[in-house]
Amino acid sequence: MPSSNENTIQFKVAYQGHITEVQTYPNQYYSLMTLISDQLAIPGFGLCCGMGSCGTCLVQISNGYHQGVKNVLACAVSVNDELANALVTIAGVF
Ligand code: FES
Repeated sequence: MPSSNENTIQFKVAYQGHITEVQTYPNQYYSLMTLISDQLAIPGFGLCCGMGSCGTCLVQISNGYHQGVKNVLACAVSVNDELANALVTIAGVF
């Protein structure tokens, strides 16, 4: 793990009105779903463990600069620079 924070990725995760600041390293987690499951421990989130079949990991990603807003399955999202400064909102459809 790098000793400086030059390589860290920072973004925010919103769930039920609470915003959590997340700081991680590129590819420290297998996917955005595994990061959220590890750091927020939301019951029912990521039920199929990344198989892409349950839909419980649906999130909305907004980074305001390049991509606008998009709805995606967090288990299909890599943790890399594309998440920098984004707001990830957990749909909470479960
Ligand atoms: S964890 Fe089930 S669809 Fe992503």
